[in-house]
Amino acid sequence: MMGLTKISVLSKLIIPMALLGISCEKQNNNGIEEAPVISTVETTLQKEMPFKMGAAVNVSLLKNNTNYRNLVVKEFNSITAENAMKFASVHPSKDTYTWSEADYLVDFAITNGKRIHGHTLNWYKSLPDWVTKFQGTTAEWENLLKTHIQTVVSHFKGKVVSWDVVNEAINEDGTFRNSIWVQKLGVDYIGRAFQYAHEADPGALLFYNDYGHEFGPTKRTAIINLVNNLKGQGIPINGIGLQMHTRVTQTDSNLAAAISTAAATGLLVHISEIDIALNPDNNQSLTYTTDLGVQQAAKYKAVVKAYNAIPKAQQFGITQWNVTDGDSWIPSNYSRPDWPLPFDAQYRRKPAYQGILDGVK
Ligand code: G3I
Repeated sequence: MMGLTKISVLSKLIIPMALLGISCEKQNNNGIEEAPVISTVETTLQKEMPFKMGAAVNVSLLKNNTNYRNLVVKEFNSITAENAMKFASVHPSKDTYTWSEADYLVDFAITNGKRIHGHTLNWYKSLPDWVTKFQGTTAEWENLLKTHIQTVVSHFKGKVVSWDVVNEAINEDGTFRNSIWVQKLGVDYIGRAFQYAHEADPGALLFYNDYGHEFGPTKRTAIINLVNNLKGQGIPINGIGLQMHTRVTQTDSNLAAAISTAAATGLLVHISEIDIALNPDNNQSLTYTTDLGVQQAAKYKAVVKAYNAIPKAQQFGITQWNVTDGDSWIPSNYSRPDWPLPFDAQYRRKPAYQGILDGVK
């Protein structure tokens, strides 16, 4: 039975049962023997899984939706900010930093005993207009990059344990993305971004984060080469984030290759943004079926199984992107129905939830 682990075979273990708070058989007032009271301990991802389980959290939902908040508190022991720590969120104009949303999330995580992973210090998206329109010399761009990274990392020092330092710098064809950062500073800015973050918080674990390792060898080889080059230059990089925005039609062997090649770097491996789309072809009339749910469960299981096979010391954890199908970024981003997460829009566990648990059996 999914969800509840029954403690059922303890009837002869009188002392342990008492210790567990479980009542033993006793006689009622009429002298009739009553059945033992069976306590139940609820399964949760954070209790069952041998590594951290996280979710990307929307601060507005966390504040205003009790069902959402309760699910986050119950199931996960790692939190990533979906948007609250991005450049445009925390640094909307040159001399203004706005911390309130991100601080709320960090306080929530600390109060509830959850690890907080920072996302993201450098990306080509979610930049405020003042950055995209910035007119400056190379030195001024370098200062902008450095100041942003060091101000943000310093603000959360000792609370945020890890950062996606650079996000999505590689194209599908394996070339460097011609982002505003590359245009202004050249590709070597990537290594300097890690150094700036490390200077601001030498204790923070620093990740390169990207998607598409499972697409095939072209992009993943380019990512692995980048990461290995950084390591080889003595750049302080601790981990590699595999976003894993994937689909139910992706092959198990591609998913496993993504994970094992990342592990071969010797760095920490974070499955940092997983969701498994059921409707990658944008079929507007698709409905969720039992069969699709079963296929999705098998795919989650395949990912978790491959992840569970890498060395324990490299397992930073698995983070799903968003909490339920009702708040996933996918339906709105692609204007289509989809159900990519292990919880449905009513906060109920889907077969995918059991697939995750089965991946470590
Ligand atoms: O907050 C504004 C709101 O004021 C405005 O009215 C509205 C109009 O569009 O936009 C709101 O901002 C949106 C923001 O999400 C908050 O909802 C942005 O337009 C929208 O672009 C932004 O999308 C986020 C996207 O990253 C870009 O930052 C998604 O929520 C978020 O799930 C997505 O996450 C990314 C990861 O960071 C990196 N990997 C891929 C992943 C999925 O795209």
